[in-house]
Amino acid sequence: MNRRDTPPEDLTEEDAGAELAALAEEIAAADIAYHQNDAPDLTDAEYDALRRRNTAIEALFPSLKRADSPSGATPGAAPAAGFAKSRHGTPMLSLDNAFAPEDFAEFAKSVRRFLKLGEEEVLRFVGEPKIDGLSVNLTYENGVFVRGATRGDGTVGEDITRNLETLDDLPRRLPAPFPGHIEIRGEVFMTKADFLAFHAEQTRLHEEREQRRERGEKVGPDIRIPANPRNAAAGSLRQLDPEVTARRPLKFFAYAQGASSTPVAETHWDYLEQLRAWGFQVNPLSRLLPDEHAAEAFQAELAGQRAGLDYDIDGVVYKLDRLDWQKRLGFVGRTPRWAIAWKFPAEQATTVLLRIEIQVGRTGALTPRAVMQPVNVGGVMVQHATLHNEDEIARKDVRIGDTVVLQRAGDVIPQIVSVVLEKRPATSEAWRPLTHCPACGSHAVRPEGEVVRRCTGGLICPAQTVERLKHFVSRNALDIEGLGEENIIALHNAEIVKSPADIFRLAPHVETIRQWEGWGKGSKKDSRKIANLLAAIESRREPPLERFIFALGIRRIGAQNAKLLARHYHDVAEWRAKMLAATTIGSEAREELGSIQGIGPAIATELAEFFAEHRNREALDDLLSEVTPLPAERIGGSGSPFAGKVVVFTGTLEQTSRDEAEAVAERLGAKVTKSVSKKTDFVVVGADAGSKAKKAAELGVRTLTEAEWRQMAAQG
Ligand code: IVH
Repeated sequence: MNRRDTPPEDLTEEDAGAELAALAEEIAAADIAYHQNDAPDLTDAEYDALRRRNTAIEALFPSLKRADSPSGATPGAAPAAGFAKSRHGTPMLSLDNAFAPEDFAEFAKSVRRFLKLGEEEVLRFVGEPKIDGLSVNLTYENGVFVRGATRGDGTVGEDITRNLETLDDLPRRLPAPFPGHIEIRGEVFMTKADFLAFHAEQTRLHEEREQRRERGEKVGPDIRIPANPRNAAAGSLRQLDPEVTARRPLKFFAYAQGASSTPVAETHWDYLEQLRAWGFQVNPLSRLLPDEHAAEAFQAELAGQRAGLDYDIDGVVYKLDRLDWQKRLGFVGRTPRWAIAWKFPAEQATTVLLRIEIQVGRTGALTPRAVMQPVNVGGVMVQHATLHNEDEIARKDVRIGDTVVLQRAGDVIPQIVSVVLEKRPATSEAWRPLTHCPACGSHAVRPEGEVVRRCTGGLICPAQTVERLKHFVSRNALDIEGLGEENIIALHNAEIVKSPADIFRLAPHVETIRQWEGWGKGSKKDSRKIANLLAAIESRREPPLERFIFALGIRRIGAQNAKLLARHYHDVAEWRAKMLAATTIGSEAREELGSIQGIGPAIATELAEFFAEHRNREALDDLLSEVTPLPAERIGGSGSPFAGKVVVFTGTLEQTSRDEAEAVAERLGAKVTKSVSKKTDFVVVGADAGSKAKKAAELGVRTLTEAEWRQMAAQG
């Protein structure tokens, strides 16, 4: 049987891991095909099936959930639940495209033909920059903004009134005179500068979330990183919470009319004037063109200005100025006969790839970046492009010295589209991933089934130091009060704290620190701050072993796994020795590690990678010269029937709280989890238990009543 046909619950751990990797890749590829290339290669049903399978496997093998898990992300175009539907007074249309002067000439000719105009009649057009944002329909009743909707399918959109109300560019009231009822249309967009700042911020939040997730901490909803200003604007407008929209820098240009109880103007140009008078922003580059022959020059003029504009435009929309003629021309299908979008050529250019640079993220992820001979792409000088990951490089077979095609289609961030193979130097070689971190020299590894290569020098890599230190002092780790991010950065920049051990060696630097703003220069309160911090640090010289292990920030060693390790190995010397021995694949120590209930081979590999790096061992030993972790209770030896078992509590317990029961189970050496799977050993069923009890029965997992649990727990 093909692995894909195996029911998730029958998969081995190894197969499950391999399949999650394959699914992550397939779903990511489908997402790209759908959202970025607008060319879905799977049917919706096929796509949904992939996602469902991924979720099912993750539920059964929670420890295998990947950092790049598709379940962490929400699909881009999912209909936003929670918005009411809103029917437009007149349909919101799309436009036919022109790409060359001949296309435009043909369009003008068809207008003349339709209206039976002679050569002597002049066709005036209004040319407007075509911004790639989101069109919206605004309804005003008696001059008051009452409703705003997305375009939707052109007939019915989503009511996003509350979100649109947060836009500065949107007048809430129109100054008189105005029609009793009128629909006004235009584009919501984000400027390039705002997008870049927003993109950077989302990337930072995303990374932070990933780190928390890796440490096994609770995380909020997925942070979306928008690919381009249009996605950013769309995502911002479709927020269920208008306060979120309010914080996003959205702008609005008005450019079209929908239904209106009385006519507003006789020409489109006058209509735009009226919009301005009502307080709308109308694109100042819009121009009334005296005749159809002026379009070509205007097109060239805007193409020339394009790169310097603070927003993306992908062409020019030409609208026949006379509204009576527009009315007569009407529509074919979903496009008007009186307007056309003349698109700019795709922003592409070719250049030479000089080298592939590796950037080290704050979590140790190595990301390749192309460095190219600087080239003008659609008016913007470009010399860098992200290559995402090494698979992407292999897929495109991008090599140093290659001539590559670069593109900025709508996206501000350039991409390498393809390689011009005919121009490949004869001597070129396929690119090989780095074996060592460029920031610290530690070895770099790519765990099987993952796309990202990572630096293993967590404790010493300068690119990761600040994050590691933050983690080291955080609440579930060493819990050192008074060492927030700002202080860590300051101490790190001053080269006082470069590794966790340095935190315990602050005393000789007190005089230096005292000179800093807010650190004792001024008030008495400030000088107490240093004393308090030093005291907080001193009080942590004997941390419980599990906190100590967690604090090291080893990948996949969250609080729960740290606890398992501490309980198993008892004291730090033993743990250190066994971890070192476990770096040898097949060794007894490695077997022992992998067989700890809840650890498993994948996590064993992470630990082994960490200890295989001598720099980490040095940093650890350095730290151990400053702190003495307290031994943990040993499990297994306790003789409790729960030692080393996976236990789930469900329903309401009568005699104790759930929290207390879980703590008791953990003290007895159990691993307490939230969901029932084949790996669960016991499900303790309280009153009003729901699906978990049912699942336990289905999977044949042993269930215990509260009384049985208490009795067994009392044994050890
Ligand atoms: S007029 C019938 N004017 O282009 C009139 N559209 O392909 C239809 N767009 O959905 C719209 N700038 O999102 C018009 N100055 C402009 C525009 C513009 C951008 C977008 C809009 C619309 C799409 C039509």
